[in-house]
Amino acid sequence: MAQTDNIPVTFVIFGASGDLTNRKILPALCSLAADGHIGKEFNLVGIARTELTDKAFQQLIKKSAGSKCAEFNEIISRAKYITGEYTHNDTFDQLKDILATHNNSNICYYLATIPEMFGEIAIQLSKNGLSRSTNGKFIRLVIEKPFGRSYESAEKLNSMLHQAMDENQIFRIDHYMGKENVQNLLALRFANAIFEPIWNRRYVDNIQLTVAESLGVEHRGGFYEAEGALRDIVQNHVMQVLSLTLMEPPANMDANSIRNEKVKLLQSIEIMNKTEIAQNVVRGQYVAGTIDDQKVPAYRMEPGVSKSSTTETFVAMRLSVDNWRWAGVPIYVRTGKRLKLRATELALQFKRVPHMSFSKELTHDLEPDVLVLKIQPNEGISVQFGVKVPGREFKLKTVSMDFNYQDEFKEPSKDAYQRLILDAIVGDPTLFIRSDEVMQAWKIITPVEMAFKHNVTPLTSYKAGSLGPVESDKLLAQYKHKWHLQ
Ligand code: BG6
Repeated sequence: MAQTDNIPVTFVIFGASGDLTNRKILPALCSLAADGHIGKEFNLVGIARTELTDKAFQQLIKKSAGSKCAEFNEIISRAKYITGEYTHNDTFDQLKDILATHNNSNICYYLATIPEMFGEIAIQLSKNGLSRSTNGKFIRLVIEKPFGRSYESAEKLNSMLHQAMDENQIFRIDHYMGKENVQNLLALRFANAIFEPIWNRRYVDNIQLTVAESLGVEHRGGFYEAEGALRDIVQNHVMQVLSLTLMEPPANMDANSIRNEKVKLLQSIEIMNKTEIAQNVVRGQYVAGTIDDQKVPAYRMEPGVSKSSTTETFVAMRLSVDNWRWAGVPIYVRTGKRLKLRATELALQFKRVPHMSFSKELTHDLEPDVLVLKIQPNEGISVQFGVKVPGREFKLKTVSMDFNYQDEFKEPSKDAYQRLILDAIVGDPTLFIRSDEVMQAWKIITPVEMAFKHNVTPLTSYKAGSLGPVESDKLLAQYKHKWHLQ
């Protein structure tokens, strides 16, 4: 995992005037400077089509990062900006000149452009001799999902990236991997003796992952119309959390050992046919409703969204993992926008005891044991189990034993981008997504995407402020289960 070396790097952001740079990358760099991870040897270059001078770019960084940090202000004062098209040689000639002034230091390219440009930019870097190192310094490329829109387009993107660079130069970010409690899955499972022995089909009845958002699509209507919840959240964040939850123990914590196990797990997730998709997948779209006493409009009324849109803002599905550990254990996942709360939670619900010695009257309030990993907000872990209610009668009741990160460690967790950008700079690929992981996730998702397109799974609706369509509850009810997070 990341060392805290102050490595000499020229950090080149493509899409430097855009939203991602503004909201995530610059504030993360500012925090890295404040924590002493980057400093004198760190140079920032921005590239975008928006016309800006170096000075204007520097102002923009100051505004985005809200920098009060002397180290970062020094980095800002050296920052350079190139106004240019991502496909024009001239842009790359200017870049070459700037890189030469930094004594050809290590380079980290960050592609914060629209995804359609990722492959193009990589090819341009290659054509201009800027993608492979000739002086022993490293050259890395950081990109963000979406990594393609289907299996085929992801394959095409990978092939373009690989024309320009070797796989070990490419750092694909899934910001969920930067979340503390997602990484904690490794500690919970593989550093404790008590969980792993019961982490299997003998003891686990079903597994549930909920990624609930109360926000809508905000100003991203246009982007979201083409993505939908399946591509936006399930193909990446959900698959990443599931692979860490369900994979076999790696021999060690090396990046490749972990990523090999993740891929093996993804390969074990059953690829559903049309009939199975019709039975096991629910898609929904929100209509107007109320969240936290505020009225919110229907998805179709959001800016940039078609009035007859059929894009899903909610997906629930039942997945199966065909391996010895998980055969027969339903894996339920759901995600949605404009739900009643923001919460990402993983729940392992355990089987009931094989024989209940207490009478029905005494166990009325006893729920199955559950282990809950709260990924956000209030990161923590809680175990729910039965205890005896005080008194002469031997009544049982479910209670919860809670661990909360903030209470225990006092300081709030670092932002995921801060962690991941530092890992890319120091060259630790553990938390980044390898190309075979991307491809396997698309193998699972593409048939579902096709089924949506051909209306195999009808689009249902749900009220903003609810927890999704009733069909999502029915999906579990048909297997005698119910969502843990209500
Ligand atoms: C992004 C999606 O990847 O994740 C957004 O594109 C979503 O639509 C966001 O809102 C959720 O991230 P988080 O960290 O708030 O759960």
